[in-house]
Amino acid sequence: MTSSSFSSCASCFLQNHQGVGGGRYSRRTSRQSRPSSSSSRRQRRVLFLRVCAAQRTSGNDDDLDEDEDATKTKQQHQRNEKKPKKNIAVFISGGGSNMRAVHAACETGEIHGQISLVVTSSYNAGGVEWAMDRDVPVLLYPGGKDLEESERISPSELNEFLKNEYKIDVVLLAGYLRLIPPELCRTFENKMLNIHPALLPAFGGRGMHGAKVHEAVVNSGARFTGPTVHFVNENFDEGKIVAQRIIRIDPSWTAEEVARRVLKEEHEVFPEVVAALCDDRIEFRETDGVGVIIDKMDSNKRY
Ligand code: GRF
Repeated sequence: MTSSSFSSCASCFLQNHQGVGGGRYSRRTSRQSRPSSSSSRRQRRVLFLRVCAAQRTSGNDDDLDEDEDATKTKQQHQRNEKKPKKNIAVFISGGGSNMRAVHAACETGEIHGQISLVVTSSYNAGGVEWAMDRDVPVLLYPGGKDLEESERISPSELNEFLKNEYKIDVVLLAGYLRLIPPELCRTFENKMLNIHPALLPAFGGRGMHGAKVHEAVVNSGARFTGPTVHFVNENFDEGKIVAQRIIRIDPSWTAEEVARRVLKEEHEVFPEVVAALCDDRIEFRETDGVGVIIDKMDSNKRY
């Protein structure tokens, strides 16, 4: 956030988890190291940093070409215009490139939604500053080991914030490394998506994140990889799969090369599934509850 945009935001304030408003706000950019002494004490007390309500603009349908596909897209947009945009909460622990891809798709209107809240497990997550720059409220959960117990947000409070304070419709885990509390999984059953950088159910589970996933894939000799988008349940990477993308692995590739290619696919498949969820274009197979996407262009087609 630039200093001008921050100071122009008259409603900037800081709340703690008991809902106390007012007081001085403080913020730390990702370029600053963790502050010590009094500044650090103040930072540790920052549980809930609300900047001001996100103002979003939607895409402009007038620019669409009038070919058949564009017409169908336009029809979907028109159907959406009658419905309110979905409020999206994104959970992050890192750079937030998937969050940015989702945001870009919200801006073009591909996703009929807006990022209304960011939840982070760490002040240092790169995506925190990005969110603050756009006046998106940021909530720290569950906070680091140095946070006193009394200063933590409980799972019930988190659930309340999402459900009642921010009226969140859709939750996205975009590189969030902590386990989601069971009550949140229940509240957002079939409304919470995670993106994983490998083809589940292989190469997933507790501890399988970041570079470890791609190293495991390369070391296994697997010839295919790609991102998986799945609904979230109470266990790491075990919810039902909604979408996958396939990348053929060249045996000469390093784990870094694989990671780079998978991330590129993630930025396409995640917004696509989020768009389907926000359009109510996911239906659930009666036999086993697997989520199936209804094609945007052809409502008779499923994938
Ligand atoms: C992605 O590879 C995602 O699959 C995994 O965490 C990474 C997050 O990357 N769950 P970013 O923070 O979105 O850039």
